[in-house]
Amino acid sequence: MNSVFRSCFRAMSFSTRVLPTHPSSIHFSSISPTFSDSVTQESLHSAANHLRSKNCVAFPTETVYGLGALALDSASAAKIFTTKGRPPDNPLIVHVSSTDMLNTLLPNHYVIPRIYHILIKHFWPGALTLLFPREASLVPDIITAGQPTVAIRMPSHPVARALIAVTGAPIAAPSANSSGKPSPTKAEHVLRDLEGKLPIILDGGACGVGLESTVVDGLGQDGHLRVLRPGGVTVEDLERVLKEEMGHDSPRVLVHRRDYRDEVMEQTPTTPGMKYRHYSPAVPVLLLDPLPSASVQFADVINTLRSRSVRKIGVMALDDSPIGQHPLPTLFEWCRFPLGPRLDPSVAAQRLFDGLISLESQGVDMILVEAISEEREGLAVMNRIRKAAGETIHVALDPVV
Ligand code: TXA
Ligand code: MG
Repeated sequence: MNSVFRSCFRAMSFSTRVLPTHPSSIHFSSISPTFSDSVTQESLHSAANHLRSKNCVAFPTETVYGLGALALDSASAAKIFTTKGRPPDNPLIVHVSSTDMLNTLLPNHYVIPRIYHILIKHFWPGALTLLFPREASLVPDIITAGQPTVAIRMPSHPVARALIAVTGAPIAAPSANSSGKPSPTKAEHVLRDLEGKLPIILDGGACGVGLESTVVDGLGQDGHLRVLRPGGVTVEDLERVLKEEMGHDSPRVLVHRRDYRDEVMEQTPTTPGMKYRHYSPAVPVLLLDPLPSASVQFADVINTLRSRSVRKIGVMALDDSPIGQHPLPTLFEWCRFPLGPRLDPSVAAQRLFDGLISLESQGVDMILVEAISEEREGLAVMNRIRKAAGETIHVALDPVV
């Protein structure tokens, strides 16, 4: 353990306050926000003061709630790791409120590549994280876990952006959950998980996207855009925008593990979600993956569950899917948490973590989750479900037509 970690290792105890904010009362006409509501302004100033005093603060973003601390201060950033129980070799995303702030983080004379200009124009502020070369004299080792790159994004949630702007400094923020747990999409999720470990949670309501940003690397020599973690900005949207702007010269968009593998990189935590356990609630998650040729029927799955000591079961399935519409036998107590319509995977994205956390808090013994199509937001949804699930069963289910 290095000295920065050792100095912050003592578990801090706080009386955690949840402060209200009204996102619609925050306006950005210039780089600095204005507030039409004093409660929101006070909450943000209080959170910014805590950040400047080197404490962690939880705040809403459009993707998930973040656990923020000053990015350019090692002692502050170290508190993120101790608060979450995060392994120190897992790098953090740095959040900025403006492109001016982005420029302050980049090496002198660095020229932002054309592909990044296009992505920034279309997707910032928003759920897209870009890797940039790290300026070692500015960005501490603890942020990048010693990598030569730093991950940066500009969130679109008014509370997140205003908090960074009012603090006047880039904010490092992973998802505001204990390491390994599902990411929080409501202030109450953060409170349940981290109460007593941080002074302030800004409440900005439920996150609109519901799962984390898409992490991309466009720095490779071959000019392709590599998606290290699928997320809120879909691969289809990335491809469409690059095609529109660059035509025949547009780079390929390659999704890690779908379109390319990198065995060496997969052993390092810089590949998001690869090395460590992720997104898992305290109860087992069973993924039901419909496969027409499978010999297992849904009734067989129920029979298997009878042999396990489960009493109350959570079911997360699409509204209009075989499992979503399947009658559930009364020998168990069931709690359904619908994932929305098959044709709109953004609803499943918005509800996934909320469902895992809510069902766990309702006391279920197990959660069944139905696989969805890996199109649009479905790619990120399935990426998270596969990591959350301890077990997968292929079931023979006819698609609902
Ligand atoms: O939507 C989000 O991205 C949320 C909100 C709070 O902004 N944040 C978030 O952070 O999901 P976190 O720490 O849970 O996930 C960040 C991921 C990590 O898995 C890490 O591996 C990857 O980004 N990452 C960070 N820096 C990197 C780097 N230099 N190279 C490759 N991957 C990096
Ligand atoms: Mg996370």
